[in-house]
Amino acid sequence: MMPVNIPQLIAHFDKNEPVSISFYYPNEAISRTLNAMLAAILSKNDQIYLLDMMITILREIIVNATKANAKRIYFKKLNLDINDPQSYTTGIEHFKKDIVGQLDTLENELKNSNLKVTLSICKEDKSITFIITNPAAIHSEELNRIKIRIEKAKEYLDFTQAYEDVYDDTEGAGLGIVLVILLLKNAGIDPSNYTIGTDGKVTRVALSLPLQLRPEAITTKIKQQIINAIQGIPTFPDHILVLLQLCRNKEVEIKDITMTLMHDPALSTDVLKLANSAGFVPGKRVNNLSEAVMTIGLKNLESLLITISARKILDDRFQKFEQIWEHCNRVASYARTIATKYKMNAIIEKVSLCGLLHDLGKIVLLSVDLDITQWIAKLVSDRRIRTSTVMEEISIGISHSGIGELIASKWQLPEYLIEAIQHHHAPLSADSRFKDIVFITYLANLLCGIESRRYFYYYCDDEVSRYFTLQSKSDFENLGKLCQDIYNKLK
Ligand SMILES: [Fe+2]
Ligand SMILES: [Fe+2]
Repeated sequence: MMPVNIPQLIAHFDKNEPVSISFYYPNEAISRTLNAMLAAILSKNDQIYLLDMMITILREIIVNATKANAKRIYFKKLNLDINDPQSYTTGIEHFKKDIVGQLDTLENELKNSNLKVTLSICKEDKSITFIITNPAAIHSEELNRIKIRIEKAKEYLDFTQAYEDVYDDTEGAGLGIVLVILLLKNAGIDPSNYTIGTDGKVTRVALSLPLQLRPEAITTKIKQQIINAIQGIPTFPDHILVLLQLCRNKEVEIKDITMTLMHDPALSTDVLKLANSAGFVPGKRVNNLSEAVMTIGLKNLESLLITISARKILDDRFQKFEQIWEHCNRVASYARTIATKYKMNAIIEKVSLCGLLHDLGKIVLLSVDLDITQWIAKLVSDRRIRTSTVMEEISIGISHSGIGELIASKWQLPEYLIEAIQHHHAPLSADSRFKDIVFITYLANLLCGIESRRYFYYYCDDEVSRYFTLQSKSDFENLGKLCQDIYNKLK
């Protein structure tokens, strides 16, 4: 496929002209193009908050269309007539075993076929229409099964209800349909806006996205449990609130801080420990509190107070999830490295704090229901969904970023920090005043995900890649390597 010129496409789109891309196989380049196109189109319509949902839905439809094309190729290879009911049953059994889940094995054959998938997007008066076609007419039996599945899916209230029902599905497409319908419902889109049909030659899936939406959030028992859990979380202790105030006061005297600090021996020890850690004054031992405060500075002291208090409250109240905090430490370090590399020195402490606390919502989520969170994680990785947040929303009714935001607001944490916690998976939705901070938190988390093979570099939002001039896979790898080296050295 030729590289797609996004600004040109958007110009056509704005003139209400349909824009389209065609491809044989939805590889990385296609995924990146699709993400960038959707981000541009949705932000034009103030619907950027729908980005992950739309990417998930379109990906699902596109993979199914490609699967349908692959099925034609596979049947031909096996010399089976796809229109003969008996051959169909035999063929589909083998297809499920050999191809579904490893579609990439047919990538070359798809490229050499004339079976393309086309996505067209067109702006209309009150909606945007997405049409996905593939030149293989859907089998009538299959179409009926899908229609029944769609009707059934409309009745589910959340994703967990559907799971057991569709698990035994013949072609593995059932779960995808339920996913699409629930995502639509969660965003306030009538599921009847999603249709599938054929004219005997091509299969056509259409989705109309209204420009005006009235989302109705999914409410589940677990969501209620989570809200209750958040209500039960205490606020920061009084002396910490006093200290935080002092740190933000430009005219403060160090002795005022140390006087308050002294009443909390554990905290005083932590301050001394930090002042004596690598990165501050190497080779010199800091023994008294006021020297320690001066060594680390008020910004770092503020971060330390927030992190220690937040972790203590969560650890006392919920299960201890060392792994999450370890991941947060890593993200914080990566965020520092990114801010340093891009000479954004004024926000180094801020992004570090964002990294340290970005996933705090996960602690509550995991404590309330471990099974469902693990199930979501598996589904997200199996179906290559960019972020777990969309799945959390339709399964539980709230995502870990949403939970984090509720807790951070309750603790009256600084605005930039609340914003980074809430949008660390959807940076384009963040308030533009905190764009640099949120982008760095997002990128640091993404690099950690790439390193642990949960994410792919092309999941990155195009605007973020451009902001940090990351144009290729190797740009991401180099930055990842730099972050990793510095983290390992400091550890
Ligand atoms: Fe996260
Ligand atoms: Fe994270």
